[in-house]
Amino acid sequence: MTQNSTLRTLAGLQVPYARHPAVRQLKRQGHLPSIHGTKLWGASHILIDFLSKDLAEPPRSIIDVGCGWGLAGIWCAKTYGAEVAAVDADPNVMPFLQLVADLNDITVTSVVARFEDLQEDLLASTDWLIAADICFWDELIEPVTNMIARAIKSGTRRIIIADPQRAPFLCVAETILQEYGGELIEWRTDNTRTAGALLVIENE
Ligand SMILES: C[S@@+](CC[C@H](N)C(=O)[O-])C[C@H]1O[C@@H](n2cnc3c(N)ncnc32)[C@H](O)[C@@H]1O
Repeated sequence: MTQNSTLRTLAGLQVPYARHPAVRQLKRQGHLPSIHGTKLWGASHILIDFLSKDLAEPPRSIIDVGCGWGLAGIWCAKTYGAEVAAVDADPNVMPFLQLVADLNDITVTSVVARFEDLQEDLLASTDWLIAADICFWDELIEPVTNMIARAIKSGTRRIIIADPQRAPFLCVAETILQEYGGELIEWRTDNTRTAGALLVIENE
């Protein structure tokens, strides 16, 4: 990771700090994310670091759910040339997603939708579902578990959820591993020493 006063480079991507002029301007314009999509979270580093060492066949299409500022999906669009739908319930994260995409000269499709809204036809037509730090409240356990179950049943080929190992996420992981199998992989990034875990389901 390298850095200057308003931007840092992470996994080959430009990431703005909160003090970046464009970030400040978006906040002044009233774009104030309200479900924790207020910054780039460490679980995104875990997800990108894991994928950067992964030998899976590159996906053609990806849904990045609970995308926030969208770094993981943007990294996938750049690395795999995949079509990425960046999905979040909070419309106020989308200008920040667009800023990060623009800083990196990458195009992703933004979609305002909740976990509960992602239906079988969309999940069936998507190679990978990825997410970082999307299960941080007990009330999110049910919608996140159900979304993962729908993706598995619909045939999404691969599902990868990174998390700092919050209790609600571990509860989701336990249910999914018991009912459908998969792996819970502990991870620590090389560069930033961010620690967490990934729930990985190969659904071939
Ligand atoms: C902790 S942030 C993580 C953002 C991003 N994945 C990252 O790692 O930087 C959680 C994100 O999940 C979104 N979110 C929360 N509940 C949601 C729901 N029910 N459906 C879709 N997105 C949701 C929030 O708006 C927020 O952007």
